[in-house]
Amino acid sequence: MPKLRLEGKNAVISGGAAGVGGAASKIFAEEGATVAIVDIQEDAGLSLARSICDSGGNAKFFRADVSSSAEVGKAIDDINQFFNDRIDTLYNHAGTVVIKPFLETTEQEWDWMMAVNVKSMFLMTKAILPSMLEHGGTIVNTSSISAVAGTPMEVLYCTSKGACHMFTRAIATEYRDNNIRCNAVCPGFIRTDHGNRELKELRDYDIEVTEEDICRIQGRICEPEEVAKAALFLASDESSFVNGETLFVDNGMLVRT
Ligand SMILES: NC(=O)c1ccc[n+]([C@@H]2O[C@H](COP(=O)([O-])OP(=O)(O)OC[C@H]3O[C@@H](n4cnc5c(N)ncnc54)[C@H](O)[C@@H]3O)[C@@H](O)[C@H]2O)c1
Repeated sequence: MPKLRLEGKNAVISGGAAGVGGAASKIFAEEGATVAIVDIQEDAGLSLARSICDSGGNAKFFRADVSSSAEVGKAIDDINQFFNDRIDTLYNHAGTVVIKPFLETTEQEWDWMMAVNVKSMFLMTKAILPSMLEHGGTIVNTSSISAVAGTPMEVLYCTSKGACHMFTRAIATEYRDNNIRCNAVCPGFIRTDHGNRELKELRDYDIEVTEEDICRIQGRICEPEEVAKAALFLASDESSFVNGETLFVDNGMLVRT
């Protein structure tokens, strides 16, 4: 029987209760990982962990707001106990979006956006790296097409994803010789709660993201599993010489611009 791609690995997935993170929790578990699902959505996280275990996989839910240093600290302590201090893979997926004209955005929204999308990666990675340094590991971050393509009404979001790109590349260079790889997936528009809300709110501002526009720019809407499988590739040994990369999962949207 062929070896599973994450057989025997311990994986932590932030935002792992729903959307792309939920798909990754399932797919990583199907590929042999034991998954620690970290999310603010307790019911969804508990129910997903249960359903993964019911199907023969291994997963456990840990509630934490990953923008809070205290909550991340507590969750990672519990996860280290669960995993006997060995974490092989971290997928920093949790994130959100603010959509409004730049001049209407507030300092609180700026701080919130940076905390959920950027500080969360800092907190989670800093908490997990010490144990990874002992045996190597992989880190995957969810960035976005918005890291390189500006979208009106998304100045805060685009800025946060630009930071995610550079966080990925800088971690990769600093820890390459410790056998730690760090890469990012950069999706286009995905069929998730986040993606559906983003499209609706952009349409409310007459930004060109109608269904026809989405078909024109990326062929069709992306399914969460399609991003999760790209994250799986980057998390697994199949990408053993890929480091500091930003892998666009956008069906060629950006190569046409
Ligand atoms: N959906 C898209 O079109 C799209 C495109 C590009 C990038 N992204 C990125 O994907 C991520 C959003 O994920 P999704 O599309 O799967 O949406 P989603 O809303 O279905 O999932 C996001 C998950 O993150 C969790 N989460 C949010 N804030 C959190 C916090 N502070 N602490 C812990 N968990 C938190 C949510 O509860 C949810 O389970 C963001 O990083 C976003 O930038 C999404």
